Amino acid sequence: MAKEVIYRKDYKAPDFLVDNVSLEFDLHESKTLVKSRIEFKKSNADATDCVLYADDLIFISVSMNGELLSIDDYILSENELVVKNAPDEFFLEVENEINPKANTSLSGLYYSSGNLTTQCEAQGFRRITYYPDRPDVMAKFEVTLRGNKENYPILLSNGNLIDSGNLEDGRHFAKYEDPFKKPSYLFALVAGKLDHIEDSFTTMSGKKVALKIFCNPGNVNKCYHAMASLKKAMKWDEETYGREYDLDIFNVVFVDDFNAGAMENKSLNIFNSSCALADPITAVDAEYQFIETIIGHEYFHNWTGDRITCRSWFELTLKEGLTVFRHESFGESVQDRDVNRIGDVVKLRNIQLPEDLSPMAHSIRPDSFVEIENFYTGTVYEKGAEVIRMMKTIIGDENFRKATDLYFEKFDGQAVACDDFVSCMAEASGFDFTHFKLWYSQAGTPIVTSTGEWDKINRTYKITLTQENKPTNNQKEKLPLFIPVKMGILNHEGQEIDLILNGKNLGKETVLHFTEEKTEFVFEEVHSQPVYSLFRDFSAPIIHKNKLEDEDKYFLVKHDTNPFCRWDILQQLSMDILLKSIHDEMVEVPENFIEAFRIILSDENISNSMKATLLTLPSEKEIESNCEFIDHQIIHKVRQEFISLISIKLHEEMMDVFGETYSKKEYDVSAEEIGRRSLHNICLSYLCANGEKGSIHLAEHQYFHADNMTDQYSALNILVSKAGERTAEIVLDNFYDLYKDDISGFNKWLSAQARRDIDNITDKLREIMQYEKFSITNPNNVRRLMGSFAMFNANRFHTEEGYKFLTDVLISLNTINPNIASGLVDHMCSFSKFKEENKEIILRELKRLRSIDKLAPNLQEKIDNALKAV
Ligand code: ARG
Ligand code: ZN
Repeated sequence: MAKEVIYRKDYKAPDFLVDNVSLEFDLHESKTLVKSRIEFKKSNADATDCVLYADDLIFISVSMNGELLSIDDYILSENELVVKNAPDEFFLEVENEINPKANTSLSGLYYSSGNLTTQCEAQGFRRITYYPDRPDVMAKFEVTLRGNKENYPILLSNGNLIDSGNLEDGRHFAKYEDPFKKPSYLFALVAGKLDHIEDSFTTMSGKKVALKIFCNPGNVNKCYHAMASLKKAMKWDEETYGREYDLDIFNVVFVDDFNAGAMENKSLNIFNSSCALADPITAVDAEYQFIETIIGHEYFHNWTGDRITCRSWFELTLKEGLTVFRHESFGESVQDRDVNRIGDVVKLRNIQLPEDLSPMAHSIRPDSFVEIENFYTGTVYEKGAEVIRMMKTIIGDENFRKATDLYFEKFDGQAVACDDFVSCMAEASGFDFTHFKLWYSQAGTPIVTSTGEWDKINRTYKITLTQENKPTNNQKEKLPLFIPVKMGILNHEGQEIDLILNGKNLGKETVLHFTEEKTEFVFEEVHSQPVYSLFRDFSAPIIHKNKLEDEDKYFLVKHDTNPFCRWDILQQLSMDILLKSIHDEMVEVPENFIEAFRIILSDENISNSMKATLLTLPSEKEIESNCEFIDHQIIHKVRQEFISLISIKLHEEMMDVFGETYSKKEYDVSAEEIGRRSLHNICLSYLCANGEKGSIHLAEHQYFHADNMTDQYSALNILVSKAGERTAEIVLDNFYDLYKDDISGFNKWLSAQARRDIDNITDKLREIMQYEKFSITNPNNVRRLMGSFAMFNANRFHTEEGYKFLTDVLISLNTINPNIASGLVDHMCSFSKFKEENKEIILRELKRLRSIDKLAPNLQEKIDNALKAV
């Protein structure tokens, strides 16, 4: 049955609330028995039917207040159990059975590599038992787990362990009580053979919290980075938001089969092991950094998500946007601030911007959906975080803190809406957010164009801003948004001047409120030709078309006091060159661009990590977003040639820096060392861009002698793309031999294979999918292979063979794991600007997929949107 569209405007508070739930699990991998006791209270006097949701359950029985209900008292369907004529207060006892082993969707309770694990957000709890599975029903949970002691020595659930002991037949039990009310999506259980490490954290009020991290046997030595990150995050949340942890224990579990990155279940966070385990031999620097922030993310959810949650899934950004904002701020404070901020913007441009340009474009708080799983997106998460950041930029740090304090005080223990959050921002600061709130409902990325005009006679400098909000698939009419513009003005010596607007001196940096389609800001007492610096620190999620002369842009690359803007303007210069080269089908790199790179390479005042960031060109994906017409092969070719030209012109400089950044020091993950390695490796990749023998030799040497994965994997990828097929085969085989038994190493190998620029790539990848080590039921394997192929090998993916291959894989995944399939189908759904022949093939393949039996609703929603947009 096709799922229906549901609308935010139809939200209705629940008819029945639940005070207490107790659950009993008789755990078994293929036959788990679940018994619940749910205490209901009517909250809508007119209601008669009490609805419990279900998905893929085997019903056994239901009784009310201790009496078995007869078939006339309820209606049982595939997705609902409706109890008729429900009284004002009663308790239900329901029994059902589930099969965790058959659950390859990894939603609900599932069996993976010997362990039983849950994932309940968004609607997985109804795959465990009959329940009013919606986030605005918050209850206290008591959970009893029973299972075979040998297979499942560790039994975990939310909250405090209140009882445990042995049972007959080699079984044992554990009973947990979570004193905090929570929605069912935050329920979790884990049962299995797990090792663990432990530590503790003393909170600001002096309470000692026991911290435990559980992992598959043999991996404990890879858990220490996560533990250190957790303690940092706990401290940071106390210092930055005054948030203290609220239970005596905090457990974290790492599992290998997991759809998402991680999940914030109350006091029992569960992580995809690929976002958690790290040691120098198998993890790269970027993973260390990612782990630090995602550990933060899930921990921060305890307040922004668990204590205060969303009243419906339309409000998802309430918890996700805010928590991403919190983890990004945490990242900025514990890692290199500016490089980190740039990294987050790069992510937005690579992941979120394409969403806004796609048929699935949606606002951070969508108005409708078919399948909520399709809305765990860059828009809801990362753009949602930018919206929070803008509010902070507008009202200032102090007011923002007052506002979050107010939010925690007012709404603790409740399920609320985005409007409630914004109302706290308004109340604490006195600022009127009415216009600003359009960011919650309007989809699309505004394009802001800026020009500057100096009036020599009146000594004024006029900055003119215009914003264009293009229609998106779901919303044709757009209004101007409230855009905060953090800015400054530089004189010709590169010094910031006083900003005088309407006779008022605003200091050297200010935030302009740009709220109309076009606004002129006239600054006074500007005594010489200046240059503006706008959108400092990326103060709004927009596309900035800066109409300054190239000369001024290069001036800003050198002189802007805002590191983000220096980077951004250089990106814009690269993009201009790339777009022109694509248009002319000929690459020419102006001398001032090379000169800018040369200066960066030798500038002692720029950190190594910032240098590496500055020297990285926009990705192919970003280029696509800027093209009116997309030819993937040309984009790829032009970008590669651009890199080659830089390599030729700056060979000597790159060689020097490559040498200077070589070190024999033992591996550590300090910001400084990470920066050194990243500059070292980016120089190596430039040096090898033309496949020149001497440089390739350096890469080979690095590959075979590195003592850490960061250097080794960089060298591997360089060799695979630049050293010719024979060498590529040799190093890939060597890498496979070294790491095939390490999940993280094996996944890296998959990714390296998927990026190969070879003719028979799809045959090669189809062959790899048949390897014994490869499992199509493991989301990481699939994403590392298919995701990398589609995302990072556009040149080869956007071909008939590429589309056919993806479609074949999606057809298999449709029954195995629709969520993972849905994440991949995106790569074929935004084709409006593609070449005609590509469009035709995609349409054919999408129709092939659309017509299969039992197509999952998430795929259906995306394909139908894509086809509608034709
Ligand atoms: N709430 C989790 C997090 O962001 C992610 C859960 C993803 N769940 C899903 N159904 N897609 O931390
Ligand atoms: Zn989250």
